[in-house]
Amino acid sequence: MRVLFLGDVVGRSGRLAVIEQLPGLRERYQLDFVVVNGENAAGGFGITEPILMELLDAGADAVTTGNHVFDQREALVFIERYDRLLRPVNFPPGTPGRGAGLFKTRSGADMLVINAQGRVFMADLDDPFRAIDRELEACALKSGADAILIDFHAEATSEKQAMGFFVDGRASALIGTHTHVPTADEQILPKGTAYISDAGMCGDFDSVLGMDKEEPLQRFLTKIPTARFSPSHGEATLCGVAVDIDDATGLARAIAPLRVGGRLSQTEPAFWL
Ligand SMILES: [Fe+2]
Ligand SMILES: [Fe+2]
Repeated sequence: MRVLFLGDVVGRSGRLAVIEQLPGLRERYQLDFVVVNGENAAGGFGITEPILMELLDAGADAVTTGNHVFDQREALVFIERYDRLLRPVNFPPGTPGRGAGLFKTRSGADMLVINAQGRVFMADLDDPFRAIDRELEACALKSGADAILIDFHAEATSEKQAMGFFVDGRASALIGTHTHVPTADEQILPKGTAYISDAGMCGDFDSVLGMDKEEPLQRFLTKIPTARFSPSHGEATLCGVAVDIDDATGLARAIAPLRVGGRLSQTEPAFWL
């Protein structure tokens, strides 16, 4: 089973990269399932209903989010209408939307997608470890789902690595998001779960985390905000990871980064060529 995960889409540049590249990538690699993190898709902050539709139309099977999920207030309402849009599962009880979903892949397999958020240097949500554990208990690999992909949206690499080992052997892949910078630690953990600390962003890398670099730089220099953060509009690098999953076990056979366009070094998964 061939799964592609794309990291946080930032603003118009990031959306354009996804819209222009994803249909071709689906075709080129014969992808069975695509997950896109859309938490920064609307001007860098949150997601709107038309933008969600754009991402789904471009070929996303599920759209995950993170701490910015409700930056566009309308998301509090429309998230209830789209089971393909997920928010972190460990938000407090009663939060609109859902944190996990079971979806059909192109070949008819059952793919469980879980979205959770870390707590180190982030908002103090419910315990993500127990929240993910509950989801994996309710819909386990092979008995409940043919494959399980977890988007762990977290700041600290320590928390992400710990979560990787916590789900090792129980999920097909645990992919980190939120920092917007791709890490080079992609690997198959000892019990068969594919892991990377951060998938990176789909955004312009001539920027600070996808935002125009002037304002962040001024804030570091002077500690005084002078303007709002706005997305950088240069050509985005489409940043993600490719995961090849064994249909028989639901565990990962290979993981590799995928980077297309923009300023970062280009790379594609050799095992699918
Ligand atoms: Fe983000
Ligand atoms: Fe985030």
